[in-house]
Amino acid sequence: MIQISTVTIPKGTEDVVLHALRSGQIAQGPVVAEFEARFAELTRVPHAVAVNNGTTALIAAIRVLDLEPGDEVITSPFTFVATLNAILDSGATARFADIDEADFNLDPVAAEAAVTDRTRVLLPVHLYGQCADLDGLDSVIERHDLALVEDSAQAHGATIGDRAAGSTGLGCFSFYATKNLTTGEGGMVTTRDGLLADRLRVLRNQGMRGRYEYEMAGNNYRMTDVAASIGLPQLDSYTSNVEARRSNAAALSDALAGIEGLVTPSVAEGRGHVWHQYTVRLTSEAAMTRDELSEYLQANGVGCGIYYPRLVHDYDCYRGHPLVQVSETPVAARVCREVLSLPVRPGLSASDLDKVATTVRDALGA
Ligand SMILES: Cc1ncc(COP(=O)(O)O)c(C=O)c1O
Repeated sequence: MIQISTVTIPKGTEDVVLHALRSGQIAQGPVVAEFEARFAELTRVPHAVAVNNGTTALIAAIRVLDLEPGDEVITSPFTFVATLNAILDSGATARFADIDEADFNLDPVAAEAAVTDRTRVLLPVHLYGQCADLDGLDSVIERHDLALVEDSAQAHGATIGDRAAGSTGLGCFSFYATKNLTTGEGGMVTTRDGLLADRLRVLRNQGMRGRYEYEMAGNNYRMTDVAASIGLPQLDSYTSNVEARRSNAAALSDALAGIEGLVTPSVAEGRGHVWHQYTVRLTSEAAMTRDELSEYLQANGVGCGIYYPRLVHDYDCYRGHPLVQVSETPVAARVCREVLSLPVRPGLSASDLDKVATTVRDALGA
């Protein structure tokens, strides 16, 4: 089976982890600080604050914006549930705007139409490793005086023009095991704003400025030095890993071109995609439905995944939830039924890529 994701840890990681284990400092310490500094470089920001996962990165980012009850955060309905859970956990109200089918991300026109007089935050998700249209969202943010939180969980090092994902607003990253960069579990909040970075550091440490000096009702969002030691060596090979993902994506798009009803993913002008996922769409013109193709591929040794099968709020636990404001998002509702992600990770051989493409072509009679 060609797996859709595997965890590949660079050589030498064991030594770095062992060093942390033997250092006597295994909770948050100097390795976390080094990991933060190196990650800030990748993200082109002066401040990076490590936390214990991507969900808490989002929660912490929203919390330092000091929203009032009833204040709204506009996000994409086509995302992993952590985006919604983080908004709810921080006490804000979630409102949804439709996506653009070309990049799968928040559509600036739809986002602006969703703004109300209670909207305080725009929370685009840079899904699959491609930045949302931040140029288009900039003007919405300016016109309505909003804060920007970027769910960059899948977009480490992605770019739009000369800015990196997570460098415009508060960037929230995940280092979960299957992400492009991993610490097992882990997260990071990035920002250009020194005051917000300072508040994030206090918040993640039980609201403590100094020992037992509580400045706010905080929490324990700290990353451990052991986790940071897993992530640190991956930063050395990150650029070459992204190059491998780009070359795999290009090979797949070449080999899958011209199949009726199959839309290969596109990269918008000026954006640097980091290919966390390579996601095709199966339209009604295809010879099979998306679910049939998914079953066929798995039965024939090609791993694949559906990210995500339903709109994020389309579950009983969110229906009627007082903090969940649902609206019509027809593009996202259709795209949920069309998407299928194929293996694109580094480490795939030319013959693996050929097998992925040939199996898709066979299934669709192309
Ligand atoms: C879009 C998105 N947002 C948030 C998260 C949450 O990250 P974590 O699993 O590290 O809490 C993830 C990853 O799982 C994600 O894919």
